[in-house]
Amino acid sequence: MNRPIVVAGSINLDLVSIGKRIPGPGETVKGDTFHTFHGGKGANQAVAAARLGYPVSMIGKVGADDFGKRLQQGLKSEGINIRGVSAAASAASGVAMIAVDAKGQNSITVVPGANDELLPRDLEKCLPQLRSAGIILTQLEIPMESVEYLSTVAQRHAIPFVLDPAPARSLSRNLLRRVTYLTPNETETCALCGISPSELSPATVARYAQFLQGGAANVIVKMGRFGAYVAGVDGLRQLIPAFKVKAVDSTAAGDAFNAGLAVALMRGMDLPRAVRFASAVGALSATRPGAQASMPRSGEVDRFLGNQTTGAPRLRQSANGRRAAAMPAGSRL
Ligand code: RIB
Repeated sequence: MNRPIVVAGSINLDLVSIGKRIPGPGETVKGDTFHTFHGGKGANQAVAAARLGYPVSMIGKVGADDFGKRLQQGLKSEGINIRGVSAAASAASGVAMIAVDAKGQNSITVVPGANDELLPRDLEKCLPQLRSAGIILTQLEIPMESVEYLSTVAQRHAIPFVLDPAPARSLSRNLLRRVTYLTPNETETCALCGISPSELSPATVARYAQFLQGGAANVIVKMGRFGAYVAGVDGLRQLIPAFKVKAVDSTAAGDAFNAGLAVALMRGMDLPRAVRFASAVGALSATRPGAQASMPRSGEVDRFLGNQTTGAPRLRQSANGRRAAAMPAGSRL
């Protein structure tokens, strides 16, 4: 029996408007459609991994309200073990207000509610579940002390720990040292390295990934249409190209990627192949609206990959092998 993927993280109800444009400050725009979708970076990753056919346990907090019941039911119906999901006594379920434009780009405001009450003492109650994990996934929509706690448990029990540093913020070097796979997108890479968006490009990403490797063992920078840049603990340096799809809604594409990465690693793929698989899962999720609603199933990903003309990525090692710790100027780590 496979050791499960354990996801500890946020569970939200997404209130989504789809229209031509995302409004700027002080602006009112007309939307075309409105939807409620099940979301939250943690729950999205859990659902995506479950749809890829892997056993998944979720740890999180919802409110003792209708949204909470609906969100828990949604996870259960995906076959996810929700013994670690509890209802907060006094906080409402987390919600996210999401505006999506005609290009599939989004802007998100999250009101964490009960997610902010997922504390180390709740995680402690889930220790047997955490210890049973084949891999632990988390993000930054729960309290930082809980992220720290998870990283410590993972390290103590030699369980690979995947940190999606989203939403963007700076992180302590101590935390990063306990991360096995760090998966920032471009915005998060800039926040972690203390650089402006203009400083990050396919030409400079190697330098910043290497800098982040001063902490985390493996760094995978999700660069949207440019692909995903991989800096592995074994010296691997490689840009895995993105797949071309018609994006309808990029919400949760990063979550889909992380779930794909975890499933691929659990199935024994090497890092370049795992990242290619993850990119396919992320790309497919962007072709449909919604967060959990957009997550592809295993067969769909296999067919998609089977139809691609580019082969499996070849390994490319750096000249000097392992890790490096050169600090870019102005870094906040
Ligand atoms: O990553 C997308 C998710 O971010 C949404 O589902 C929303 O709930 C926010 O957590």
